[in-house]
Amino acid sequence: MKTLIVYTSKSGVTKDVASLIENTLSGSISVVALGGQSKDIDLLSFDLIILGSPMYMGYLRKAMRRFVFENQEVLLRRPLALFVVGAHHQVNLDKYLRMSYPNTVVEHACIKSHLGGEFRFDEMGLFKRMLVRKIAKEKANACPGEVKIEQEAIATFSEEANKLLAGVNLE
Ligand SMILES: Cc1cc2nc3c(=O)[nH]c(=O)nc-3n(C[C@H](O)[C@H](O)[C@H](O)COP(=O)(O)O)c2cc1C
Repeated sequence: MKTLIVYTSKSGVTKDVASLIENTLSGSISVVALGGQSKDIDLLSFDLIILGSPMYMGYLRKAMRRFVFENQEVLLRRPLALFVVGAHHQVNLDKYLRMSYPNTVVEHACIKSHLGGEFRFDEMGLFKRMLVRKIAKEKANACPGEVKIEQEAIATFSEEANKLLAGVNLE
């Protein structure tokens, strides 16, 4: 069984989440980070495709939105799992996914999960750090230091992905 994990990450949190998922999946796993250059990946050669992106200002990152838009027809032909990394636990994850990805892709995905997030302040300049602390406190109503990657949600996500790979119906 072959799994492809495609992710994009600005400050490294989604990269870490992708690695945690990679370490708990069965079979052969390829991990691709979306960067400047367009990637030529044979998506149809995988049994499961996992896409992960962080949220910024209410949207998933542009590189991932573009990747999904450009590959939507092929993505609809493979089992698909989507994960989102962000500071605010999305009560309505589906709504946020639909704001960034085509509806058909969101509806096609068998697994959709919010896996927590982190603020990496050491990656930010002083002004941005102050601004982000203020917004995080107002919007998430939590101390930014309390925002964490959700290990349990990651374990559940990987468990469901492994079931999909084993051919178990998740319904
Ligand atoms: C400027 C800025 C805007 C953000 N906007 C959102 C947002 O709209 N929703 C959310 O849940 N998290 C938001 N976050 C939190 C990030 O999604 C979180 O820090 C995530 O872990 C970053 O992942 P990355 O390191 O993979 O880029 C924001 C963070 C920053 C710095």
